[in-house]
Amino acid sequence: MQNYKDFLDYVLIDEISLQKRIAELGAEINQDYTGQDLMLICILRGGITFMVDLMRHVTVPHVMDCMAISSYGVGARSSTGNVRVTYDLQNNIEGRNVLLVEDIVDSGHTISHVLQMLNTRNPKSLKVCALLDKEERREVIVPVHYRGFSIPNAYVFGYGLDIDEYYRNLPFIGVVDLEKYKPES
Ligand code: IMP
Repeated sequence: MQNYKDFLDYVLIDEISLQKRIAELGAEINQDYTGQDLMLICILRGGITFMVDLMRHVTVPHVMDCMAISSYGVGARSSTGNVRVTYDLQNNIEGRNVLLVEDIVDSGHTISHVLQMLNTRNPKSLKVCALLDKEERREVIVPVHYRGFSIPNAYVFGYGLDIDEYYRNLPFIGVVDLEKYKPES
């Protein structure tokens, strides 16, 4: 894998701005769920970094669970609309207030599929918290109740988001210069 500095076009959201906004989202969630039971559900793998940082700001008592979805073919840069659950929740969500924690909403196919599936399990409420939202790419209408940042139509990486599975560890969100990025064959 190339050094990311060779294909980083520019830093879209730096570490300080990310952490500040995540603290604000946590405060909003605390206000809205005061006195209510809450279950946070992380959509693996992209949502994991965001989930861990967000949880530290959620002071209302809550439990967490994870599910994994596969929506992109290996190496693909756009959603296929083929969404599959590859790892399901370990908890029953019936009668519970569920908040999905997602890295990015792009076409909307992934979150739309997850919402439809989880709604059949009769949660008390079901909401979406997405760190990033590429609204202009939307193909299906989905609700985003808590939105970290609206971002332009560009391929981004870092802070949980990958480029061919690499660089999820970076503390910022960067834009990939697709002309400089050389995928391994
Ligand atoms: P959607 O189904 O098109 O909304 O895609 C959602 C999923 O695609 C996200 O959870 C990410 O895993 C992935 N994704 C979409 N855009 C990007 C991007 O710019 N960088 C990295 N992953 C992305």
